[in-house]
Amino acid sequence: MKNIFKWIGIILGSVIVLVALAALALSVAGERRLNKTHDDIRAETIIIPTDDTAVARGDHLVHVACTSCHGPDLTGQAMINDPSIGTVYAANLTGLAETHTEADLVRAIRHGLDTDGRQLMIMPAEVFIYFSEEDLASIIAYLKTLPQQGNETPKPALTLLGRMLVGAGQFGNVFPAEYINHDLPFPEMPTVGANEAYGHYLAGLCRSCHGTELAGGQPGEPDAPPAPNLTPGGELQGWTEEDFITAMRTGMIPNGRQLDPMFMPWQSVGKLDDDELRALWLYLASLPPQQSAVK
Ligand code: HEC
Ligand code: HEC
Repeated sequence: MKNIFKWIGIILGSVIVLVALAALALSVAGERRLNKTHDDIRAETIIIPTDDTAVARGDHLVHVACTSCHGPDLTGQAMINDPSIGTVYAANLTGLAETHTEADLVRAIRHGLDTDGRQLMIMPAEVFIYFSEEDLASIIAYLKTLPQQGNETPKPALTLLGRMLVGAGQFGNVFPAEYINHDLPFPEMPTVGANEAYGHYLAGLCRSCHGTELAGGQPGEPDAPPAPNLTPGGELQGWTEEDFITAMRTGMIPNGRQLDPMFMPWQSVGKLDDDELRALWLYLASLPPQQSAVK
């Protein structure tokens, strides 16, 4: 009898030690991803203009692509704020001209790295790598005009559980610098207007979720529903340009369902102007019909 208790004790003790070791290993792996630097990645040298046209273009693109996370006034906001997991802030983007060189900003936006080469969490460089050189330059030109406002935002600070979840990959692909092709050349800048080529260019904003072929995909956010097929073989069959523009502006699709703004960023996409939404529609309608890549 005594022997049995001894064995149960040994087995339970070993299980506890193993679980603790596994937790430790996961948290170390998480810590390593959080602090990982990519010192070999060089920012492209690009010329940042200062003229009003470029700054206005940058202002427009920043309101389409950045304010949803960095906040309406760009002073930053919490993306994750949970006592059991920790905090991750989208950084304050005002006053960057004081703290960041132009190369630092290219590296952050296009490669997902901070000034020390640390891989940024959540910051969607996998989308922004599709900005043309001209548009990236305009975005930086605009950011450089913003005077310092608000408070400095902290770097990610995760609890043991948060680090374990990152180590186990539970947040999905949250470090774009780990997987994007850093050598991707800048795409050509098409003529801005209601034309297919410009729609093709803008669709760079959709591919990270709807798939490279736009035939559907699973967004990086693990809780998100699949992003549907946007080719004429998919969900948009029977839609008119009007339906598409209404969906992007109000989130309401023709069958009366409201798209979830948590997962389909229509509030940002809807800030594209009429010609831009028309361009996207022309491009989507021109695609070869494909079967849905997701169910
Ligand atoms: C999906 C949310 C999201 C969007 C959209 C987004 N960012 Fe970020 N960004 C973040 C987060 C989160 C961080 C901080 C991550 C960290 O410190 O690991 C960040 C950090 C940054 C930094 C700081 C780099 C440093 O040196 O610390 C810059 C610059 C930046 N973003 C620019 C932009 C610009 C410009 C856009 C739009 C073109 C944009 N971001 C859109 C989430 C986002
Ligand atoms: C962050 C991921 C993400 C990005 C980026 C994104 N989408 Fe979506 N989209 C989704 C998800 C998820 C859904 C499904 C949402 C739902 O069913 O509530 C969706 C749904 C849609 C729908 C509705 C389809 C239907 O069910 O009828 C359209 C249209 C659409 N997206 C167009 C776009 C376009 C155009 C872009 C780029 C300009 C884009 N999306 C960018 C995730 C995304």
